[in-house]
Amino acid sequence: MTEIGVIGMGVMGKSLSRNLASRGFRVALYNRHVDGIEENVAKDFKSAFIELAEAEAFDDLKAFVHSLEQPRKIILMVNAGAAVDAVLGDLTELMSEGDIVIDGGNSHFGDTSKRIDLLKEQGFHFIGTGVSGGEEGALKGPSIMPSGNKVAYSKVQKYLETIAAKDANGEPCCAFVGEGGSGHFVKMIHNGIEYAEMQLLGECYSILKSQGLSNEEIANALEGWMKDLGSYLLGITVDILRKKDGEEYVLDQILDKAANKGTGKWATASIADSGEPATMIPAALFARYISFFKEKREAAAAAYHHNSQGVNISINELKEAYQFSRIINHHQGFSLIARVSDQNDWKVDLSAIARIWTAGCIIKSDFMKELVEGLRRDSSILMNKKWQEIITATYPSAQAVSIACLRNELHIPCLLEAVNFFHGIKTASLSANLIQAQRDYFGAHTYVRKDDPSSKSHHTIWV
Ligand code: 6PG
Repeated sequence: MTEIGVIGMGVMGKSLSRNLASRGFRVALYNRHVDGIEENVAKDFKSAFIELAEAEAFDDLKAFVHSLEQPRKIILMVNAGAAVDAVLGDLTELMSEGDIVIDGGNSHFGDTSKRIDLLKEQGFHFIGTGVSGGEEGALKGPSIMPSGNKVAYSKVQKYLETIAAKDANGEPCCAFVGEGGSGHFVKMIHNGIEYAEMQLLGECYSILKSQGLSNEEIANALEGWMKDLGSYLLGITVDILRKKDGEEYVLDQILDKAANKGTGKWATASIADSGEPATMIPAALFARYISFFKEKREAAAAAYHHNSQGVNISINELKEAYQFSRIINHHQGFSLIARVSDQNDWKVDLSAIARIWTAGCIIKSDFMKELVEGLRRDSSILMNKKWQEIITATYPSAQAVSIACLRNELHIPCLLEAVNFFHGIKTASLSANLIQAQRDYFGAHTYVRKDDPSSKSHHTIWV
């Protein structure tokens, strides 16, 4: 008999299967059969890797399910959305009471909550699990963010913890996040933070490029930041900048249209729903959307004069602006998790999330390692004494870089959003009194008066 099954032999499903098998687990592999398109996928995959010698491969779902010990433990690695529901529909016909399905794809957390309830009604357990780290992470050790029923989780914990990346203390980067879809929610915000981190690096690249630096010079500059601001994304950016195909840099040949698979869009929608002003994730998402309008950008570039007086920003100034923006990005991301956790009573432990993001995942960084301790003491990064000092010290550079970029008409949405958010959050009296007056003027929406401590609603007949 096999002890754990994986459904879906895409890139992530294959890597997770190899990871499980290489740790000595008896794994069942399943991929559907589609005539002429997907034939013998699991069997061919099994025969290609030595660590899968003991694994059993199937393209018949019934045989796959029956090969598993009860309670069955089945990891779904299929595309988020309708494919998950389709597989669940077939699976639940074949499973027995108490069996556990773990969805390791990038599913929407709302769908995960519904699936937990649906499977519970049918006598099964469903665990939604964020899995980060891309192909290599899944193979060697990803960061794993499971949620749902804690008792059911305890039955699969050993598998997930064994395959997970290990933190600096050798602890698995896998922690039970909370009830419902909290695991997938946290993974979605991980991706949102990832979007903003990537966009910030894109902005640094464009600023240095506008100053005439070559790819190699930009790589050298960014590599110099690794000592103080080391992160996986910064490291891969240095590699990317240096990669050549013959005489050409690969980067120079890549069309400047940034795609997305949807988690940034969901994160942005949930930011709007939650009421948390996490402004950098939407800015990063919309930067990708703008990039997609290549033809319109080309037409507008021809129609409008580009006024550049020449950018003159030092590498160190840019480094500080980048550091400032990263702190704001992480502050916004963790504040968002805290708020939505409160709204859903998930009791997500922010420090534990930072810890499981210190290895295995895409946003792992030296800063994340510091956040493990920092978030244990303060849920607000902005109000933590240590980062308050760094924010104060790096802000002048963020301001100077923003001004230089505005003067030179450079597109820097995430950097500007970091600065703008900072201005807003540290302004004790905003112009929102005028907004309230306008709302009351045209819609009798009422307002609260400063001179009335009861906080009751007031209305004015304005004309
Ligand atoms: C990860 C990645 C992974 C995937 C992104 C890409 O944590 O391993 O985030 O989930 O690469 O979903 O997302 P986009 O295609 O939207 O950039």
